[in-house]
Amino acid sequence: MTVRRPLIAGNWKMHKTGEEAVDFVNALKETVADVTDVDIMIAPAFTALTQLSAVLNGTNIGLGAQNLHWEAQGAYTGEISTAMLQSAGCQYVIIGHSERRQYFGETDQDINRKIDTASKADLIPVFCIGETESQRDAGETFNILDKQIKNGLEGLLSENLKSLVVAYEPVWAIGTGKTATKEQAQEAHAFIREWFAKNYEAELAQGLRILYGGSVKPSNVKDLMAMEDIDGALVGGASLDPQSFSQLVNFKQ
Ligand code: PGA
Repeated sequence: MTVRRPLIAGNWKMHKTGEEAVDFVNALKETVADVTDVDIMIAPAFTALTQLSAVLNGTNIGLGAQNLHWEAQGAYTGEISTAMLQSAGCQYVIIGHSERRQYFGETDQDINRKIDTASKADLIPVFCIGETESQRDAGETFNILDKQIKNGLEGLLSENLKSLVVAYEPVWAIGTGKTATKEQAQEAHAFIREWFAKNYEAELAQGLRILYGGSVKPSNVKDLMAMEDIDGALVGGASLDPQSFSQLVNFKQ
């Protein structure tokens, strides 16, 4: 059986200036310094990347961005390229978060180009998928996941997906305090892993890290992480406070 290394990732969304981000890391780093069997990632706003990169140097905490553009450069006001992210110290990039889909009109095709670009540049893509409440109520969850994965990965070869991370984030659970039950999350994760086994190879599917996201907090992380196909968490609200983020990272204790 493949042992997948857990990843606990903080998505800060539009929170924290560079100074606030540095204060956070200074409060966090000692409390997670002994964690050697879990990967840790923080995705701050673009403006905090360079400052954070400097304080993360020499720690066990990785750095991620919340978005990128697929072109290398050009007349794309407000956008940011992989080379810019890498020069700011990023190893990861979140792609296709439901807030980007919902408020900024990101399509599966945009997401497809972004995953392609990120993976070819050796940035680890954290590819977000998930159904809305009405889609779940209509029994459409698996169809939606199938469509999002298929379109998001169209044309991509398994050799480009070696570092891919998938985040299952049911839209109804994001920022609402309504976590999916561990059984609901496990069911979706098992479906996703099976999708990769069918459409790529068993080995890729077995090694794929699938994070759960949606109101993860210190009180529910242990139960979620105990499920067979849950390999980590993508955390919004509870990642903003160093104490609660540290408890999430230390979920084994
Ligand atoms: P939440 O956000 O933990 O605040 O629900 C999760 C996310 O949007 O990634």
